[in-house]
Amino acid sequence: MKAVLFDLDGVITDTAVYHYHAWKALGEKIGIEIDEEFNEELKGVSRTDSLNRILAKGNKEEAYSQTEKETMAAEKNELYKTMIEEMSPKDILPGIKALLDGLKERNILIGLASASQNGPTILEKLQLTDYFDEIVDPAKLKAGKPDPEIFLTGAKDLGVKPQDCVGVEDAAAGVEAIAAADMVSVGVGDADTLGKATKVVPETGALTVELLEEVWSEAVGRS
Ligand code: BG6
Ligand code: MG
Repeated sequence: MKAVLFDLDGVITDTAVYHYHAWKALGEKIGIEIDEEFNEELKGVSRTDSLNRILAKGNKEEAYSQTEKETMAAEKNELYKTMIEEMSPKDILPGIKALLDGLKERNILIGLASASQNGPTILEKLQLTDYFDEIVDPAKLKAGKPDPEIFLTGAKDLGVKPQDCVGVEDAAAGVEAIAAADMVSVGVGDADTLGKATKVVPETGALTVELLEEVWSEAVGRS
């Protein structure tokens, strides 16, 4: 294992819940209910694609102009930004800091493969930016998760082969993207939702360098 590519929301910090609340608030304004089950389908999905999925759920794909959709997405993002305003290192999920330290000690490269355009801001607030050797800019990608492009770009930017990487994700779309990139994946959360992952752990506290090394070695068949 030469590199680990991390998702951000729901893996490094619990911003997944803020995305959910911000979309829910927008949904209430336009008469589309967003519950936790439907929200699973939005995890890992870009802002624009999330809005399109929400409108499709309410059969309102044709109800708004492009400009109106852009305004709605911007409005959601403004609300989301107020929610993340006060974030600090105390919001780093359990085990993540120790994992990043362990990876650094072993000279294993660290990359961010998040669909969020707020990713760099959040890493700054968490004071984790310096750990990351590469941060993929999602605005430059052609396709979002479950397409493998974000993970393949991360590996390329780090100068490693996809087969030498482990991807860590909390979303079904993300796990699919890692698999499509021909990488070993570790899912954090519910095994029913993340069943396609090489290994699923219930929470971030279980993520250690040893575990990632072990999962990678077993899957790739070497150490
Ligand atoms: C992903 C989240 O990390 O980023 C999604 O799981 C979110 O819920 C996506 O829609 C895009 O985030 P942002 O911050 O660019 O709107
Ligand atoms: Mg996520």
